[in-house]
Amino acid sequence: MISHFYHHLHNFWPLLEQDKAFKTWLRQLPERLSEALDPDGHGHLPRFQTALQAAARLPQAERVHLNQPAITATGTLDKEEQPILIEAARKLMPWRKGPYQLFDLYIDSEWRSDIKWARISTHLPDLTGQRILDVGCGSGYHLWRMRGVGARMVVGIDPTLLFLAQFLLVRHLLGEHPVWFLPLALEQLPEPVNGAFDLVFSMGVLYHRRSPMDHLLQLKAQLKPGGTLVLETLVVPDDFGQLLVPQGRYAQMKNVWFIPSVAELSRWLTRCGYRRIRHVDTTPTTAEEQRATDWSKGQSLNDFLDPRDPSRTVEGYPAPLRATVLAEK
Ligand SMILES: C[S@@+](CC[C@H](N)C(=O)[O-])C[C@H]1O[C@@H](n2cnc3c(N)ncnc32)[C@H](O)[C@@H]1O
Repeated sequence: MISHFYHHLHNFWPLLEQDKAFKTWLRQLPERLSEALDPDGHGHLPRFQTALQAAARLPQAERVHLNQPAITATGTLDKEEQPILIEAARKLMPWRKGPYQLFDLYIDSEWRSDIKWARISTHLPDLTGQRILDVGCGSGYHLWRMRGVGARMVVGIDPTLLFLAQFLLVRHLLGEHPVWFLPLALEQLPEPVNGAFDLVFSMGVLYHRRSPMDHLLQLKAQLKPGGTLVLETLVVPDDFGQLLVPQGRYAQMKNVWFIPSVAELSRWLTRCGYRRIRHVDTTPTTAEEQRATDWSKGQSLNDFLDPRDPSRTVEGYPAPLRATVLAEK
């Protein structure tokens, strides 16, 4: 796993050297990455390692499709190779974000991440040639979609090593693309000199942060002046009031701290110095978008809603509603 990870960065470092903004990244990343990948801190690393080592014997796809609902690697695997792929992917369960079509294997993840992308991408500026950071990128599904519409450099960060392992499996099959994954939380990411990214995405992360203002400021520090923040998060309906602070779990999640209304979220963004704040979408989460599958067993949305009143969570809060807001630095 660790060697696969460093191998995928071989053409990342030279790129950082070309831009002074990344001076801080070049200086601080090596130590932060080696701390994040410390084998003593992660009991599951050997399992991930076995999966990736087995997958290393598989060929690269003949063709890739990054611009359709399933991130797709096409080609042929021989009779021995197909079970190796299935076994490796199974070792990396649960697959929360996807879907992926890897040769004949369809990984139907818990979340149809393509539905979120369809909802958000129509509101985005042209991504051709852009440098993008996706904070909390999960398995990296949206990184591939961003590359699929022409982004020049796509960096995903997520502290969950299972998601890094899933990304590395997919990347091995898709081949080299200007798409990289750093196993870091935003707070651990060095701040570039005067910002480095044309766009920064934070989707599904803000409500997990105990200090949402710090999160918004840290996102801003990664953006170039004039760059665009794409913020997607849980919100409460306007008639609920300003803000929900769950007193315990929210939709069975333990780590949900703040769920603002869209108006309140806009005020947070203004307070943090963002300009041109535009609310572009609000959509309730449905069981079409989030459900248990063979690749992510266990509970999912339907178990988190009150069976007598699906407009409420099992805890009695408003059911998940997600908004997307764009803003500029
Ligand atoms: C709900 S998922 C969203 C995944 C993806 N962005 C999407 O919208 O489908 C939240 C992700 O954020 C990651 N995460 C949580 N705290 C984070 C932090 N402080 N910095 C970066 N990622 C974080 C989690 O590991 C998880 O993969």
